[in-house]
Amino acid sequence: MEPADPIRRTGVPAWDPAQYRSHAGHRLRPLHDLLARVPPLPSPRPRIADLGCGPGEPTALLAEHWPAARITGYDLSEAMLAEARAHAGPTSGGGAVDFARADLAAWRPGEPHDLIVSNAALHWCPGHITRFPDWIAALRPTGVLAFQVPGNFAAPGHTLLTDLCASPRWRDRLGAGTRRTPVAEPAEYAEALAALGCGTDVWETTYVHVLTGRDPVLEWMKGTALRPVLTALDPDTAAREAFLAEYRDLLREAYPPGPHGTLFPFRRIFAVAVRRT
Ligand SMILES: C[S@@+](CC[C@H](N)C(=O)[O-])C[C@H]1O[C@@H](n2cnc3c(N)ncnc32)[C@H](O)[C@@H]1O
Repeated sequence: MEPADPIRRTGVPAWDPAQYRSHAGHRLRPLHDLLARVPPLPSPRPRIADLGCGPGEPTALLAEHWPAARITGYDLSEAMLAEARAHAGPTSGGGAVDFARADLAAWRPGEPHDLIVSNAALHWCPGHITRFPDWIAALRPTGVLAFQVPGNFAAPGHTLLTDLCASPRWRDRLGAGTRRTPVAEPAEYAEALAALGCGTDVWETTYVHVLTGRDPVLEWMKGTALRPVLTALDPDTAAREAFLAEYRDLLREAYPPGPHGTLFPFRRIFAVAVRRT
């Protein structure tokens, strides 16, 4: 499994929490759907890790679900952590939320966990499937690893971006990429987790988001997939605007606005793995 090319080309991208939040409702829906499939956790006061926690609202949602839990949100981005820390502190059920900087590529739980959860983050961590043995080993018996990753890397939003980066005008600055995907297929996740002694519940869903406003797919991509490109072009504002204009025109053709908004189909992959022993 290879990282998406823009990620590999530019290293760690600079995140923009405000831009990311601009589609917060759409982005949180998969976390609700994931949590709906998580079975009861082993401990009454569960220990929970939220990997790639982002700006903190998803972690706060975990605290609503498990008010007695001790929850730590981990992220690599200081900008995201700075926002997330507004959600730190004691919770209504006697639990607590805190945040720490960590790279998922190396993160190991330092104590037994009841739940390790990750929403829309593992695709930024190349080879994340190789981290599963460490994470499953740190779960208490009947503890859970639950995650959701985008499965839409073959959709126009991504392929147009990859092809534009590789075009003669941009490839010297952004590199010539190929269309490789940073996530595994659902069956590959199910097999990897079953091989680690887990019961598995793996599925995929395509959400058809109805976006509004001008160039809404571009605005969506500015919060996520475009981060590595924008980071690589920073601080060259002229280049940034030129790139965005080219990409915007491609997106307008691929996702034309309709009478009820712009339809943006988005495939996502979910996995809930329960450690058996
Ligand atoms: C798309 S956001 C998802 C945020 C949040 N989980 C949510 O559901 O909205 C991806 C997050 O993963 C973080 N991230 C990316 N690579 C990471 C890594 N190697 N280690 C830790 N966090 C990482 C980013 O900083 C970002 O906050």
